[in-house]
Amino acid sequence: MQKPVNYCDSFASHQFDMSDSVKDFDLPWTWLDEGLRQLREQQLLRERRTVETLPGGRCRVDGHEFWNFAGNDYLGLAGDERVRSAAMDAIQKSGAGSRASALVTGRTPWHNALETRLAEIKHAESALLFPTGYAANVGTLTALMGADDVVFCDRLNHASLIDGCRLSGAKFRVYPHRDVDRLQQLLERETVGRRRFIVTDSLFSMDGTQAPLRELAEVADRFEAILIVDEAHATGIYGDHGTGLLEANRVALSRVVSVGTLSKAIGSQGGFITGPRRLIDWLWNSARTQMFSTALSPACCAAALAAIDLIEQEPERRTWLRETWQLVIQELRGQGWTVPEAVDGPIIPVIVETSERVLQLNDELRQHGVFVAAIRPPTVPRNTARLRVSLSYDHGQAGIDALLRAMHSARSPNM
Ligand SMILES: Cc1ncc(COP(=O)(O)O)c(C=O)c1O
Repeated sequence: MQKPVNYCDSFASHQFDMSDSVKDFDLPWTWLDEGLRQLREQQLLRERRTVETLPGGRCRVDGHEFWNFAGNDYLGLAGDERVRSAAMDAIQKSGAGSRASALVTGRTPWHNALETRLAEIKHAESALLFPTGYAANVGTLTALMGADDVVFCDRLNHASLIDGCRLSGAKFRVYPHRDVDRLQQLLERETVGRRRFIVTDSLFSMDGTQAPLRELAEVADRFEAILIVDEAHATGIYGDHGTGLLEANRVALSRVVSVGTLSKAIGSQGGFITGPRRLIDWLWNSARTQMFSTALSPACCAAALAAIDLIEQEPERRTWLRETWQLVIQELRGQGWTVPEAVDGPIIPVIVETSERVLQLNDELRQHGVFVAAIRPPTVPRNTARLRVSLSYDHGQAGIDALLRAMHSARSPNM
């Protein structure tokens, strides 16, 4: 009988001579050094930090505590006791993971209940879950579009939309941010493709601006195009029922594919699509990012179900958030910071242009106990580096006061 391989032993013996193994492991990768050096030189090298989440909108990074203004938990639901206990109950009943892709045996009663609930709140015939919002965008765009199609994309769309458009092989046309006139011109010019798609974020993730959804829907109708709207950052926040900007703008849904994430205001993890049944049936059978990936854990689904109930039952969370972002935007402008005119949401970009300056400010704010994301190219266009201040219901008045004090000190360091 053949002796089984002992991988632990073979790994140990391989590592026996450390100087040799370092040489072996390093050699094939030296070609990456130049790229990393360039990133460092341009102040674009990303740090890998470990962040502990603390209650009340705070976090601990490298042993120091901060107000966390760099997350997307806008309604403070990720740590809510009721959301956590729903997740724990699902783990007790079903275990930690889903064990298979949804297509095989990973679609549990929690997945079924969540898809039903998402379809209901979005007034759609059906819904489909994906492992992440990124996967929802890439999987949907590549399943719907091909080389014979043309896709029109807002210049500031999220990377997952851009990646999906590119991977689909469709002819790719970019229109300036929120510029519906320019989009129409492009549509008038592109008459030959099989189908036309317009793709947009609803609340832009790095800019805090809103897409002109009513106008985009009218244009889509007129040109018989399909409108794909990524509601990642708007879900839970806008509209009378908190389902997003499509609801707030009362956009008719016949030509619209709505994408959402569970990972922002819903406080869990995962992505979803809502739409007509035949669209969902098609994606179930052809969106590779959900077909060939393990289904969400039941705990994520249970947490999302509990959070969706809370979004409905506690509208005061989004009311507080709206009133607070309006006040913070006004205060920051009053302090002399550049917050673009069209910003209208819990994501507040403070434009400072250079990567060097944004890193410096980020450091100063940390010294004042406030953690804010420093966003640099390629996440945003060159010369538009920014602090991305994101607000959460968890911050409460104490957090907002701390933010405004820190921003004031960073603006006028000698005062
Ligand atoms: C607009 C937008 N769409 C999609 C995603 C991806 O969502 P997820 O984090 O659930 O993968 C993000 C993530 O930040 C986003 O900002």
